[in-house]
Amino acid sequence: MRYRLFGNTGISVSEVGVGCGPLGGPGKTGLEPALRRAFDLGVNLFDTADMYAGGASEDTLGRVFADVPRDKIVWATKFGTVREAGGGYHKDVSVGHMKQMFEQSLRRLRTDHVDIYQLHNPPMTCLDDDALWRELDRMLDAGKIRCYGLSIDLAKSATAFLDRTRGRGLQMVFNPLNQEPRAILGELATRGVGMLVKVPMAGGALTDRFSPDWPPVGDERRQRWGEKNFAERLRLVNALRPILCGNGRMLAQGALAWLLTISPHVIPIPGISSLARIEETVGAAGMRLSDAEMKAIDELEGGGLKDLRFGW
Ligand SMILES: NC(=O)c1ccc[n+]([C@@H]2O[C@H](COP(=O)([O-])OP(=O)(O)OC[C@H]3O[C@@H](n4cnc5c(N)ncnc54)[C@H](OP(=O)(O)O)[C@@H]3O)[C@@H](O)[C@H]2O)c1
Repeated sequence: MRYRLFGNTGISVSEVGVGCGPLGGPGKTGLEPALRRAFDLGVNLFDTADMYAGGASEDTLGRVFADVPRDKIVWATKFGTVREAGGGYHKDVSVGHMKQMFEQSLRRLRTDHVDIYQLHNPPMTCLDDDALWRELDRMLDAGKIRCYGLSIDLAKSATAFLDRTRGRGLQMVFNPLNQEPRAILGELATRGVGMLVKVPMAGGALTDRFSPDWPPVGDERRQRWGEKNFAERLRLVNALRPILCGNGRMLAQGALAWLLTISPHVIPIPGISSLARIEETVGAAGMRLSDAEMKAIDELEGGGLKDLRFGW
């Protein structure tokens, strides 16, 4: 495994982490061996959130790694999205809510501090909430968190956050089908910022399973994308495949290698999957695309991929 420094925070993370989105929820149970295998392969970074699977994601992680020395694990978790009983959700990044949720995250992760504490796609009006930033700074100074960050979709929101706060972590969607973060790659280096990359395989579109029949009709993702976007993803992935799969790479590995090549400050967190699939994605660590391959991707579609913003 190769490691990268997470911005100027001093936190050393494996260059491929594991995203633990719905871990512990429906269809995502029994993944303890996959998590342990990732750790055995050198992964130390696990991304979760207080609301993933109603807390089961954090709880599973805390349980699976309870025997591991604390300094061998980097916990990245999030607060600020509140799932409602009826299935919807709302945002709450007030200081009171954060303090309450932070204590719950500590308990579930079985720890006394969080390494990367992230606001979970908040409304950007939160930037004006001085009390929130004062409290996060206080937690930083007290060692309760080692870094705080923002999960967001737009580069301009990321820049506003970096201008206004001491937060030095970002989490953004970034893959060949969504190149929004390219606008701020230079800022990562100059400002000492680390970026966790959510949805690095375009939600499964940049994997070998992607086909006209997968994800199946009715899958939540396919509904979110819509059929027109689904068809366009298929077309673009077919164009990308020969380049990403060069040098014996699996498609998912090619997508992750594209990220690892484009900047030393980004760290993909592919979603937790089966044991075999996690070995494949973690296996992307150390892989890089050649200059010619990076150029070929930039030149696909007349250079049009740089303008793509295919969402989660
Ligand atoms: N901050 C936010 O709002 C936010 C939003 C979304 C995601 N995230 C973070 O980003 C992480 C990753 O995002 P994501 O899971 O949505 O997208 P992703 O990592 O781009 O793709 C996950 C999909 O790829 C499949 N997959 C994984 N490895 C594979 C392999 N080697 N071969 C074939 N298929 C493979 C998964 O399989 P399965 O069918 O087994 O699941 C799943 O369907 C999340 O876990 C979470 O930590 C954060």
